[in-house]
Amino acid sequence: MNPRRQGSRKYHDRVAGKYDAIYDDAYWAYHDEITWGLIKPHLPRTMPAHCADLGCGTGKWGLKLLKSGFHVTFLDHSAGMVEQVRRKLDDNPRQKKATLVVGDVIAMPDLPDASFELVTAMGDVLSICSDPRACVRELARILKPGGAACITADHQLAALDHYLDKGDLDSLEKFVRNGRTQWLTDNESERFELQTFTSGQLRKLFEDAGLEVIHLTGKTVLPMRHHRELLADPAAMDRLVALERDLMKDPSSIGRCGHLQITARKP
Ligand SMILES: C[S@@+](CC[C@H](N)C(=O)[O-])C[C@H]1O[C@@H](n2cnc3c(N)ncnc32)[C@H](O)[C@@H]1O
Repeated sequence: MNPRRQGSRKYHDRVAGKYDAIYDDAYWAYHDEITWGLIKPHLPRTMPAHCADLGCGTGKWGLKLLKSGFHVTFLDHSAGMVEQVRRKLDDNPRQKKATLVVGDVIAMPDLPDASFELVTAMGDVLSICSDPRACVRELARILKPGGAACITADHQLAALDHYLDKGDLDSLEKFVRNGRTQWLTDNESERFELQTFTSGQLRKLFEDAGLEVIHLTGKTVLPMRHHRELLADPAAMDRLVALERDLMKDPSSIGRCGHLQITARKP
């Protein structure tokens, strides 16, 4: 099996049970608030509607979509992650509207053509998967005409400092050329490659798949990861979220951001 797939699956299977706890802090609450704010304008407006959450992890976004009343297909290549979603659905009154699939985003034979009004892939599944081009082609295939995809990816420019900090010019040159870096965990068999993108490359990837890019932004402009203590006060959180949203309106803010979020529509 392709080691890029195996490492990610192994890593995500291992962390599935503790995944929510890893991301349960004020910084991620801030990050999630921004992420959901970018998805919300693209929620389907008519019912019934079907959404797919690709690389669903423990279901953070798919469960929100389910709560909003949509049918949701949760797909992840880690059976451990899908099992976490299944457990959360046990006492969920909307569980009949949920479909769980263990599968790879680069080929999703279980998901029919033109069947979803909204597709999400949060947490940079596009960067993690072994073939981003195939992934975007697949999500274009499963979208209904007029449907929207909200996807995040790792931003190449944000990772440049890592190579400079290491003083490793060979790796820096290589990284600038191909945008590929590694998710480093202590266990080597759990390491996996990440494909980072500039905003221009990400836009082109979606356009090449016949999708129309309707929004492309970066997050977070304010480096709140390094100032978590400021987010402990709910009033400060609200002010910082408002500032973040203001700053994001200027496309040049993308340069500061670790992640890109793109919304594209199928004509
Ligand atoms: C960083 S987590 C994000 C989880 C969730 N979307 C969220 O935002 O909380 C990335 C998820 O993508 C899944 N994943 C990575 N590559 C995948 C692939 N090729 N096909 C399906 N799922 C994949 C991982 O197993 C993991 O659950």
